Amino acid sequence: MTIQPRAELEKLSDYVPGKSIEEICERYGLSHAVKLASNENPWGTSPKAKAAFLQIANTLHLYPRGDAPLLLNALASKYNVSKDCLILGNGSDEIIDLIGKAFIAPGDICVSATPTFSVYEFTTIEAGGIFKPFPVGVEKANIAELAEFSKEARVLFLCNPNNPTGVYYSESEILELLRLLPKNVLLFLDEAYAEFAVATDYPNLISRVQEFPNLFINRTFSKIYGLAGLRLGYGVSSPGVIRNLWKVKPPFDINLAAQAAGIAALEDLDFVQMTREKNSEGMLTLKKAFEECKLEVIESQGNFLCIKIGKQAKELVAFLESRGMIVRGLSNFGLPEWIRVTIGKPEENEFFIKLLKEWLNGK
Ligand SMILES: Cc1ncc(COP(=O)(O)O)c(C=O)c1O
Repeated sequence: MTIQPRAELEKLSDYVPGKSIEEICERYGLSHAVKLASNENPWGTSPKAKAAFLQIANTLHLYPRGDAPLLLNALASKYNVSKDCLILGNGSDEIIDLIGKAFIAPGDICVSATPTFSVYEFTTIEAGGIFKPFPVGVEKANIAELAEFSKEARVLFLCNPNNPTGVYYSESEILELLRLLPKNVLLFLDEAYAEFAVATDYPNLISRVQEFPNLFINRTFSKIYGLAGLRLGYGVSSPGVIRNLWKVKPPFDINLAAQAAGIAALEDLDFVQMTREKNSEGMLTLKKAFEECKLEVIESQGNFLCIKIGKQAKELVAFLESRGMIVRGLSNFGLPEWIRVTIGKPEENEFFIKLLKEWLNGK
């Protein structure tokens, strides 16, 4: 007899990450490849964070402080919130996982406007909950309809701007959603890409979390701060919600290096500003090229663009990979005719455009 896992695991498929550079180089015998498939920061890591990380090498024999007081202080003062309103995660993925452990019981319904980041569904299923998609394609959800659809839910996961489409909800839309949602539905607002948003009405609600006891805001150091490899994210909510997340969190999983680098990254305003500016410039270049190629592209507030290729999207992804360019086909997200491209450095964007045009011309 084999050892049987929990029944919920039967319903889970593996998370599909962007393909790695090593994998593609090995498959096609290439010496190098460019990855624009996982929305990483093409400009690397905040230099201040990198220096802090290197310093930590001298104290690696020590356990980290599980409650990461210095990092919590830095976040509390950045957002003018009490430390009781903050939780840290080993990546913001862990924060989603903690929500599952603390708030989703077997049979609970969780909702997301889909297509979206797959971890919300995985977490729901893993906890024994029932995931109910609210399909919106490449549009955004109508707030009143989404609130109505979610009124029996335990958690409404809303990605803003949405991965993979890049569409966003304004502050007034989120406030309207909070007004319409029953107070026992947790609104988990995933703002992993918030720092890239340039829309002036993009929500700015972190310092107001105490006004909304059922609002949770999720952020990460993986994107704008360029720390994806270190695994650090944070969540902001009312103390009642946060306390329960600390209860289910493994004690030492925010490592010493992540704590030190996180504090330094928050101080590195120049790096954040530079990344934002370069992202906007790169986005313009790519959008112009898609326009020239007569391809439909969605307005994005993130560091990526979602482009309609048509039935041959999969073929394009394979062609690009064979030439050392990794982008994301969106079949797994339920958008088989679309691809998602992370905004890269100018030369990476140009390389992508050149290959795209070559493929379009050869069709
Ligand atoms: C919307 C969204 N949320 C959360 C994450 C997880 O980020 P991390 O665990 O690196 O903080 C990602 C990663 O791509 C994402 O796209």
